Amino acid sequence: MEKIGLNQLRTMFLEFYREKEHYVRKSYSLVPEKDKSLLIINSGMAPLKPYFAGIETPPAPRMATCQKCIRTGDIDNVGYTARHGTFFEMLGSFSFGDYFKKESLSWGWEFMTQVLKLPEERLWASIYEEDEEAYDIWRNVIRMPEERIVRLGKDDNFWQIGIGPCGPCSEVYYDRGEEFGCGKPDCKPGCECDRYVEFWNHVFTQFNADTENNYTPLAHKNIDTGLGLERLACIMQETDSIFAVDTIRHILKKVEKVSGVAYEGGAAKTDVSIRIITDHIRSITFMIGDGILPSNEGRGYVLRRLLRRAARHGKLLGVEGTFLANLSENVIEVSGDAYPEIRERKEYIHRILSIEEEKFSNTIDQGMSLLREHMEEMKRAGETVLSGDKVFRLYDTFGFPYELTEEILAEEGCSADEEGFRRNMEHQKETARSARKSDMDQGWADEAALFAAQGKTEFIGYQTLQGEAVVKGIFWDKKPLDSLKEGDVARIVLDRTPFYAEGGGQASDTGMVYNDSFSAEVQSVVRFQDVFAHKICVISGALQPGDRLHAMVSAVRRNETARNHTATHLLQKALRQVLGDHVEQAGSSVTEESLRFDFTHFEAVSRAQLAEIENIVNEKICQFLPVEAREMPLEEALKTGAMSLFGEKYGDTVRVVSVGDFSCELCGGTHLSNSGQAGAFKILSESSVAAGVRRIEAITGSGVYKRLNESERILSEAAETLKTNTDGLAAKVASLAEEVKGCRKELEEFRRSALDTVIGKSLEDAVTINGVKLVRRHLKEDYDVNDLRILCDKIKEVSPSTVIVLALEGEGKVTFIVAVTDDLLDKGYHAGNLIKKIAAAAGGGGGGKADMAQAGAKDVSRIKDALDTAATLL
Ligand code: ALA
Repeated sequence: MEKIGLNQLRTMFLEFYREKEHYVRKSYSLVPEKDKSLLIINSGMAPLKPYFAGIETPPAPRMATCQKCIRTGDIDNVGYTARHGTFFEMLGSFSFGDYFKKESLSWGWEFMTQVLKLPEERLWASIYEEDEEAYDIWRNVIRMPEERIVRLGKDDNFWQIGIGPCGPCSEVYYDRGEEFGCGKPDCKPGCECDRYVEFWNHVFTQFNADTENNYTPLAHKNIDTGLGLERLACIMQETDSIFAVDTIRHILKKVEKVSGVAYEGGAAKTDVSIRIITDHIRSITFMIGDGILPSNEGRGYVLRRLLRRAARHGKLLGVEGTFLANLSENVIEVSGDAYPEIRERKEYIHRILSIEEEKFSNTIDQGMSLLREHMEEMKRAGETVLSGDKVFRLYDTFGFPYELTEEILAEEGCSADEEGFRRNMEHQKETARSARKSDMDQGWADEAALFAAQGKTEFIGYQTLQGEAVVKGIFWDKKPLDSLKEGDVARIVLDRTPFYAEGGGQASDTGMVYNDSFSAEVQSVVRFQDVFAHKICVISGALQPGDRLHAMVSAVRRNETARNHTATHLLQKALRQVLGDHVEQAGSSVTEESLRFDFTHFEAVSRAQLAEIENIVNEKICQFLPVEAREMPLEEALKTGAMSLFGEKYGDTVRVVSVGDFSCELCGGTHLSNSGQAGAFKILSESSVAAGVRRIEAITGSGVYKRLNESERILSEAAETLKTNTDGLAAKVASLAEEVKGCRKELEEFRRSALDTVIGKSLEDAVTINGVKLVRRHLKEDYDVNDLRILCDKIKEVSPSTVIVLALEGEGKVTFIVAVTDDLLDKGYHAGNLIKKIAAAAGGGGGGKADMAQAGAKDVSRIKDALDTAATLL
């Protein structure tokens, strides 16, 4: 058998299916589009679910892809075996109601035997036990000998991940030879041993599974096949380790190089670490390449977890400093041809990796030594479970993902209190939640399904701000309502609407809906796919489904929002011009009042840069550039260089908003018709939101005007107070500051001389008892504790063999300070011991060191007694 490289195998597969009239599409992003049931794409079919389910029309009835996939379910095995990885590529061929089992299996056979030239006698098939059709194809069309067709049950041969399209399947196995087997007489595919490698799964997607595991037959029968590219490469390169596959080996070699540790390919701890890093750097590179940023939630958390796990194993191998960015280069070298996005974003991937790894490396050593201390304590106490509070502290303060702590503990035969940890997490989230108070109504997601059943709402809001509409449904609290009356709050679905629904970072429109006998305020609008739900509060009259309404958007709010939205586009472009092409939108929020734009950038934007950015935007506003929105195919839009949301997936037709020929972006929002309408643009702040992500907040139009007025008012007030005009304000403030500085200095000198007087007096009044000089002083409000300490030090400097007892009275209490000169310490005088008794005489307590101690007491009437006690004590 010819050894074929992984990259070549990918091409061979896609070319084969292209010839079978499949539309070959590049891999979808790892970030699922609109699919809330899935965090990260985990199979070739995952991004195609809407096509299988018949919700959307596929670009072609036959498709083939090589899809980037990540699965972290087996992460604990990664590194410890030669076969597990979190990242893999899945070759897939798909039919949407087009061909079915016969073509799928036969073409698969043709590819394996004719193209790859796999020896027929090594190939086995499994089928779902009741699938006679599949049996017949294997037996009579492909002519596979009966004994190599194995019937398996639902556990093995019914394919389903979560909800969505699923069905019975048939899998192809490769027999690696007797020497890899368990030797049992009934050893065959399905056996636990290493002999038969399952590598190609043909799923006959016929059903749709819902959350209750009900199987509804799909309108069309579909094909979904998945062939693990790394596994295929193992077979073709005659190895059982994915880490020996050519491309992956290239990355592993670099791990050896940066760590200076040789890979033995066995079970040694260093081998495990090398495999973990080799696998994880692939996932990490591709995730960042698809716009995922490290965070404490969702996908971002998966990324952070993988990244920190890899970083820690780097430490275990003795790598000094950070190394992941450097390593990602090898991933890009071997996979950049097939996935140009990671090559294009190389710099960016580098930066994010460096920032995140750097951040972790600052705390990992501290965290590790704390964890080691904990483990030692546990050992001494005979415990094996680390408390949730401690695990949480490692997470919160030292950036140790829970799973990392758990893994380190497991290496020492211990475990973590997961429940306690989750409780801590929950508590923290709760605190954050109540601090945030989201505007987005909870429960909306549950209602979404209700709305979806109402059919599409036609959006007319790009062309007009008002129009006639029919009420299709009324809802509240997840229940449909028959009618509404004055004062009621509800959501209504209309057949057509001029109201923009919250989306794409833009706040929704507000306004009114009314007819002759009814009127209501529209407070917010949300949409679920193509259904728009308007949250209304009834002002007068009654409403029922079927009623006609006049819908009217608040033009003022729409215009203010549009100013901020168009300005956001200008800002994005200006940011790229000034900071560089690595700037990508990471989030945005556009409202009537202001705009907020989050973008990828690795350091604070300097004041000069901000001024330049602001200037560019204002220039573009003054140039009165026309703003145009056009619909076009995605491919065409991307060709014109339109900026798209990093990591976002778009439909086949997109809306492109351009401002002159300065900015061009994919966007569904509502905009100005000319940049000049923005009036003016002012940046209010620039800050950091996460590693590598910055935020700019800004205002436009009347917001700038209001702000200007406000600033002027403040300035005038200040000027008036200082008895000058606004022009003279700066000079006046500067001269005042100078004056204050002079006054402070004088005051300080005055205090010092006052202290000197006190010292002189105190020493004069001192008494000598048993050869020890006792300085006592009762001071009042004009001094503070710090002065007392200074006094003590000064007295000590000039007066040996002295005990100083000071009492400071103020706010109804007294603070004592006792100090002892060094020469008396040897003789056993102890400030801490003395002060205990002195303070007690005024009803207080305290203690301290031998040379200086402080205590407090409440009974100011007994200060004299306390000072007398000092004499008695001596
Ligand atoms: N979707 C099928 C799998 O992932 C092909 O195995």
